Amino acid sequence: MLRKIGVVGAGTMGRGIAQVAATYGHDVILYDASDSVTNQARDFLLRILNRLAEKGRMTDIQAKEIFGRIRFSSSLSAYADCDIVIEAIVEKLDIKQAVFSKLEEVVRHDCILASNTSSLSIASLAGGCAIPSRVLGIHFFNPAPLMKLVEVIPAIQTEDEVTRESMKLVRSWDKTVVKVKDTPGFIVNRVARPFYGEALRILEEGIADVATIDWAMVEIGGFRMGPFTLMDYIGNDVNYAVTESVFQAFYHDPRYKPAFTQKRLVEAGWLGRKTGHGYYDYSEDAQKLLPEKNEEKGNAIVRRIVTMLVNEAADAVFWNIATPEDIDLAMTRGVNYPKGLLAWADDLGIEKCVHEMDRLYHTYREDRYRCSPLLRQMAQTGRIFYK
Ligand SMILES: NC(=O)c1ccc[n+]([C@@H]2O[C@H](COP(=O)([O-])OP(=O)(O)OC[C@H]3O[C@@H](n4cnc5c(N)ncnc54)[C@H](O)[C@@H]3O)[C@@H](O)[C@H]2O)c1
Repeated sequence: MLRKIGVVGAGTMGRGIAQVAATYGHDVILYDASDSVTNQARDFLLRILNRLAEKGRMTDIQAKEIFGRIRFSSSLSAYADCDIVIEAIVEKLDIKQAVFSKLEEVVRHDCILASNTSSLSIASLAGGCAIPSRVLGIHFFNPAPLMKLVEVIPAIQTEDEVTRESMKLVRSWDKTVVKVKDTPGFIVNRVARPFYGEALRILEEGIADVATIDWAMVEIGGFRMGPFTLMDYIGNDVNYAVTESVFQAFYHDPRYKPAFTQKRLVEAGWLGRKTGHGYYDYSEDAQKLLPEKNEEKGNAIVRRIVTMLVNEAADAVFWNIATPEDIDLAMTRGVNYPKGLLAWADDLGIEKCVHEMDRLYHTYREDRYRCSPLLRQMAQTGRIFYK
């Protein structure tokens, strides 16, 4: 049983993970290199829990108990009797490795060490540890208390029992857990790339404007937000950094190539909602961009982006990154897609997906549009993903 939980890093993710663990009855230790961040996290958690009590989501006593289970520490030595430590510090390999080394001097031999990294290889983190078999990735989504999905990523060095125990723990926090191979972007940050990349490509080619693409993806595609609204919400700096890191990690595979349009927005400081300007202007007197509600064009936009997403999801199955069920769960629970992409492929017809990929490939003659071998094999043999 993993009872005592350590969380390193009290920023956006660390404080959220601490809140989740304490809510489910665990004693938690939270530490940050910056005392002022630790203090901010303490105030933040107190405020959030009080607000949840005011809204009737829990009683005052429960809120106090949850808060009381979190200990704010100013030193890593407090982690000595933790059963698992989840690291959520800055996304830099050398800094994470240094923290893992320091932790290993403090924790018990059987303490699991997990990283919430979004983009670093878990093997590289484990490789820097004295006991690599106890290291794995546990990737929460933001905000951790609200987002249902957690990706669990064993490295090649990770012992099976460590993976099993960690999955059991996170499931006990009422999360949907998917197991993923240690590859760039894991499931969500890899499979979702065409949602942004293909929308940007359609914009850059002048096929449709931002408002029209967003309109099509929401009204026809059934997505909760259009790609440009979502990129403005995430922050173009954050979204661009993920795209660039996935592109580099895949040895510059053109499927993940970042777009100049987004780079220019970042350079201009048009980061989205947080700076008041991104693809859209968020100032009060801004003129609203109106979509061209042309159904034929809308259908073509949705067909192109969804097929690229389906192709990416199928390719992740082809490379054994995760099971079709876990990929569909990850995209519906992690980023609220209206339907699992592989279930969507079955509905659209595998052959039609292959046809659309081939049409794009013949139009552009770019490797970006190569059809996944799995989709092609399935079309040839008449197979589908689900019965
Ligand atoms: N923000 C997201 O949407 C999100 C989602 C999933 C995963 N992640 C990952 O979670 C991790 C944390 O991201 P975040 O958004 O919470 O960042 P953040 O900047 O909000 O918090 C990081 C914290 O780490 C602290 N820190 C830096 N070096 C440290 C050290 N040596 N020891 C202890 N604390 C140290 C910083 O003071 C800071 O408070 C990153 O690996 C990130 O990739 C982020």
